[in-house]
Amino acid sequence: MNTYDELARSGIQLKTAIPGPIGTAQIQENLGFQSPSLIHVYPLMVARAAGCMVEDVDGNVFLDAQAGVAAACTGHAHPELVEAISKQAATLIHICGTDFHYPGYGQLCRRLEQHARALEAKVGRDVSDPAPRWQAFLTNSGTEAVEAAIKLARHHTGRSQLIAFRGGFHGRSMGSLSLTASKTKYRRRFGPLLPGVHHADYGSVASIVEQLFGHTVAPDDVAAIVVEPVLGEGGYIVPDVSFLKGLRALCDQHGILLVFDEVQTGMGRTGTMFAAEHFGVVPDIFTLAKGLGSGMPIGAMLARTPTMTWVTEPMDRPVAAIQLRSPQRCRRSICWNTTCSTTASTSALTYRFDYNPSSRDCLRCARCAVWG
Ligand SMILES: Cc1ncc(COP(=O)(O)O)c(C=O)c1O
Repeated sequence: MNTYDELARSGIQLKTAIPGPIGTAQIQENLGFQSPSLIHVYPLMVARAAGCMVEDVDGNVFLDAQAGVAAACTGHAHPELVEAISKQAATLIHICGTDFHYPGYGQLCRRLEQHARALEAKVGRDVSDPAPRWQAFLTNSGTEAVEAAIKLARHHTGRSQLIAFRGGFHGRSMGSLSLTASKTKYRRRFGPLLPGVHHADYGSVASIVEQLFGHTVAPDDVAAIVVEPVLGEGGYIVPDVSFLKGLRALCDQHGILLVFDEVQTGMGRTGTMFAAEHFGVVPDIFTLAKGLGSGMPIGAMLARTPTMTWVTEPMDRPVAAIQLRSPQRCRRSICWNTTCSTTASTSALTYRFDYNPSSRDCLRCARCAVWG
């Protein structure tokens, strides 16, 4: 099976024991070099995938019911996605969206704004004002989108405390892990985690009011309530509409930001662009990833425009201006370097490095590379 169609349309085919001889050998070869934190739930050495089918290195074909943990939402290697990736890779792979502008960043943010605006229109808000109602910060993953939401919530409200739910999964980096409370194993031996995080019962607004506000945290200290509108990893629970509506009302009452973690439920996963639509509730912040890239590492933190109140500071050192000539491989190592004449200006000084490509001076190489 060589083409996308052949594999995508093929049925399940089991030709060897699972894993087969090639898979078994390759798994053994690699295991020692890989972090033992990778759980490897199944000894499957994947060669390629198309649509819903996955082929292993021994030629066995499986029906994929996992889709990269809900990430490959258009199916594996969808031809339109492959074309878009190939086109972009040939045009521009990376330039740093923090420092520079490029069309794709803005285009994606605009598309996300349109979707969030459409959600607002569906719940009856007046969205006739053409000014942007939502702004997006793009990330590389879901956990980073959640980290960004935590930072924005604290920054915007000036409050420190956060509320999440038992059963919730929000990622594994330290901030998002502090919210995650689906299984103890994710947290074991990683503490102390972020201070100021409180957990309530999923599905119960009363547990926030009675247990948290009554005993452990004052509502006006709370920056955000972070919730999956449909609980994912913690058990796939669709809550009652009154739960999310109740959270909205509670947040409005106390000036708390409502964050919907739609990393898993977003981008059409529940039949609507956002799961929020089923409940008729609009949060202040969305976190997205997984289906957003259908396997590409991208996430987004989307917030209502009045909430996006980051105070940015001008860079204290202007960006280095670099004239690159032909790239060259450093003779003594595999690191790449450039035959370059680099002019890096700072507010106070101007440096000039002239690199001689015939030199074996790796220190100077490194210096150039750092500026580059
Ligand atoms: C609801 C939710 N939030 C956040 C995350 C973390 O996303 P990522 O694995 O892209 O960091 C996940 C991942 O499963 C998730 O399901």
